[in-house]
Amino acid sequence: MDAPVTLPPGAEVPLAYSVRNLRIEPNLVLAPMEGVTDLTFRRLIRKIGGTGLTVTEFIASEGLRRGADKMEEMARIDDDEHPVAIQIFGRNPTSMAEAAKIVEDLGADICDLNFGCPSKKVCAHSGGSALLKDPELAEQIVRAVRAAIRIPLTVKMRSGFDATQRNCPDIAWMCQEEGVEAITIHWRTRADLYSGTRAVDKIAETKQRLSIPVIGNGDILDFESAMAMFRDTGVDGLMIGRGAIKNPWVFQQVRAQMLGEPMPEITPEEKRRVLVDYYESCRAWFRTDRGALGRMKKISNYFTHGLPYASELRTTILRSQTVDDAISAVNLYFDHLAEWQARGGTTRGPLVEDPSGSAPVAL
Ligand SMILES: Cc1cc2nc3c(=O)[nH]c(=O)nc-3n(C[C@H](O)[C@H](O)[C@H](O)COP(=O)(O)O)c2cc1C
Repeated sequence: MDAPVTLPPGAEVPLAYSVRNLRIEPNLVLAPMEGVTDLTFRRLIRKIGGTGLTVTEFIASEGLRRGADKMEEMARIDDDEHPVAIQIFGRNPTSMAEAAKIVEDLGADICDLNFGCPSKKVCAHSGGSALLKDPELAEQIVRAVRAAIRIPLTVKMRSGFDATQRNCPDIAWMCQEEGVEAITIHWRTRADLYSGTRAVDKIAETKQRLSIPVIGNGDILDFESAMAMFRDTGVDGLMIGRGAIKNPWVFQQVRAQMLGEPMPEITPEEKRRVLVDYYESCRAWFRTDRGALGRMKKISNYFTHGLPYASELRTTILRSQTVDDAISAVNLYFDHLAEWQARGGTTRGPLVEDPSGSAPVAL
């Protein structure tokens, strides 16, 4: 086992930060994730608790200002969802400014700009992380948006475009000088996509140079990785993405340990309840069973990691033809799991006892 992460002598883990007069406490932020952090997923995370701020998935500024139904739906927030940030992306300063004004009118506490998306579709139009290669355009966007809104403005970026251009400290500095009030940095470059070797030095450098809050992001999965990000960068807060799909309790668990409280134990029954609840809210949110099922399958791929016999569960969910099929598969799995645990479960044997005593029985 790795040695526990310790902070340098005298250093303390921050528990909150402020964006102007908005207190983000705990300083744990749910990352924006396209196709994941819609209203249903954000509700799931908020119900569990432990986050100080939620962020919508990114929304195309052009679509939002044109009033496209899909974009308006993506920008929906609950009346009691505060503080919340709505994230927009795009390359045209005027459209970005108009979209930001809509974000403000929708009641968001923060407008967040995406300077980090690595997708070819977004970068091809110079949006997302392509802006890291075009500091002048990035500056024009920030200036136009800042002039258009009164609410706090934040920016999320990667550490750079590729290994030769890890320029986030310069871009973040420009943002601060133009009135941006917090910066989130994912340690990967655009070229890394979702791989690469952990390198958080540019986050640390940015934190050193800026006076506004800097939030660290990338591969935070638990208390140990959370503490490592604080220790290695001195950031004011953390943002968690995929770790929250795998384990929606991650915020609650990290927060408890940051406060020196015992880590909440999550029982299989609680996992069943949350997953079935989530499926039901997908059914209510999506217009078609097909849409709901697609989303459920995506989330389940992450959520089931770490469960005994997870691949069997995943396969049955993936084969489900309807929402009801998927809910039945989940219920059956957790029923079997409870019986298996009662038998003193070990993954050397099958999940379900086979009366003939032969091969493991599928769900
Ligand atoms: C499915 C998925 C969708 C994402 N969509 C967005 C997005 O809309 N806006 C954004 O700024 N970042 C997006 N990201 C990046 C995440 O916000 C985050 O920076 C990245 O996943 C690294 O953090 P993590 O290791 O905690 O997941 C997305 C990531 C994933 C996995």
